[in-house]
Amino acid sequence: MTTPQQPRAQWLGRWGFVLAATGSAVGLGNIWKFPYITGEHGGGAFVLVYLACILAVGVPVMMTEIAFGRRGRGSPIDAVRRVVTESGRSSAWSLLGWLAMLAGFMILSFYVVVAGWSFSYLWKMLTGGLAGSGVDDMVAIFVANNENPLNLGFWSTLVVVLTMLIVGRGVQAGIERSVTWMMPGMVIMLLILIGYGMTSGGFGEAWRFLFSFDTGSLSSDGMLAALGHAFFTLSLASGAILTYGSYLPARASIVRTTFSVAMADTLVALMAGLAIFPVIFANGMDPGEGPGLIFMSLPLAFQAMPMGTLFGILFFVMLSMAALTSAISMVEATVSWLCDNKGLSRRAAAWGTGIVLWLISTMAMLSFNVGADWTLLGRHFFDWLDYLTSRWMMPLGGLGMVLLAGFVLKSETFRDELGLSPRWHALWLFMVRYVSPFGILVIFVDALGIARIEFGIHWPWLLAALALATLIGELASPRLRQALAG
Ligand code: PFF
Repeated sequence: MTTPQQPRAQWLGRWGFVLAATGSAVGLGNIWKFPYITGEHGGGAFVLVYLACILAVGVPVMMTEIAFGRRGRGSPIDAVRRVVTESGRSSAWSLLGWLAMLAGFMILSFYVVVAGWSFSYLWKMLTGGLAGSGVDDMVAIFVANNENPLNLGFWSTLVVVLTMLIVGRGVQAGIERSVTWMMPGMVIMLLILIGYGMTSGGFGEAWRFLFSFDTGSLSSDGMLAALGHAFFTLSLASGAILTYGSYLPARASIVRTTFSVAMADTLVALMAGLAIFPVIFANGMDPGEGPGLIFMSLPLAFQAMPMGTLFGILFFVMLSMAALTSAISMVEATVSWLCDNKGLSRRAAAWGTGIVLWLISTMAMLSFNVGADWTLLGRHFFDWLDYLTSRWMMPLGGLGMVLLAGFVLKSETFRDELGLSPRWHALWLFMVRYVSPFGILVIFVDALGIARIEFGIHWPWLLAALALATLIGELASPRLRQALAG
């Protein structure tokens, strides 16, 4: 049992945290979600905004979160409370920790359903259930797989059980070991698929789709989706990275680890795009097909390539593992909070959380069959979980974190934790004070339709506005501090 009196568990090896955080970051978000939302939002321009969001918002937020975790050595709620009280600020800021924990739990509730798809496709691959199917059959198979609540429920329940088994075993034994071999394996599988894509006839079109952008093709909705996805794919503002940071040894470099994780995550997403879109274009499929995109397209590639069944099996094993290592990280915040505050053993905390998770995820699962008509404002339960977390909770939580770090807390806290030279520290401060909040706000304002930002043409105005915000912020900074301190 972990109690506050006992020393907190730490990652074992030098690479422990990087591996575990990469395992959290790389998951269905990269291989399932990134391609399909890129498809829905028209390709290149979306990819560009996404990359900008990773760099300007994702990386600074990630460094901040890890620092919070390590400084506060606890679940998001406890860690934030400790860090703010250390600076003599109001403990009401720990609401940010609650928001993150809730977001993590909500994400997990729909994530296990998608992970269940991956497991069920692995099963289909093993039993030959996809053999000989053409484009139309693939669509029908995906639909049929969802239509039966018992079938879909079985697979998502399996994911819940596996997740809780691993989490119950603890940080080192369960989490760290499983990532060590999975990440290189995933990269190899994607390289094989890209290699196939190069010969399939759709590669050129896929490349253009992903990397050449025309400025008119991006809607404000797409920009908000790109921002939300930057948070999602890096596991930010949902408790995972912060809690993993709380197990980070004091001497590890937060900056270096952040860049390693962000780079690995971005590379895997781009590779997944390059693996999937050639198949889509070569088979005349619609890139905007939606959440079923990879499940309808990749099995076609596996059928056409030599040793395809073997590769297909390996691919879905990897995808399922990638999903599990991310799922684990989402419950870690809740489990560690229960252990620290309610005196539960890890195992009890894991299974207790698992039961609640199972109930909510079952609701999400039903959105694909019996509950397909249970919609509110045009979205069913599954969509609401995704929409609320990616578009609202994570960006708002991230905004709160950077404002807290940039304006409210004592500067020593982050000076100690990040250990940057004065010049780099100033850059980090500039990012968390202005660039990241500004980026989040601009996208919110745009999405709410308050002001139209024409992509491409008005960037100089945006930069001017950022410069002005910086000037005002710096002049007003002491007063702003007072106001935010509560
Ligand atoms: N980053 C994971 C992915 O891309 O699949 C999803 C995720 C994990 C989101 C952990 C949030 C989280 F806390």
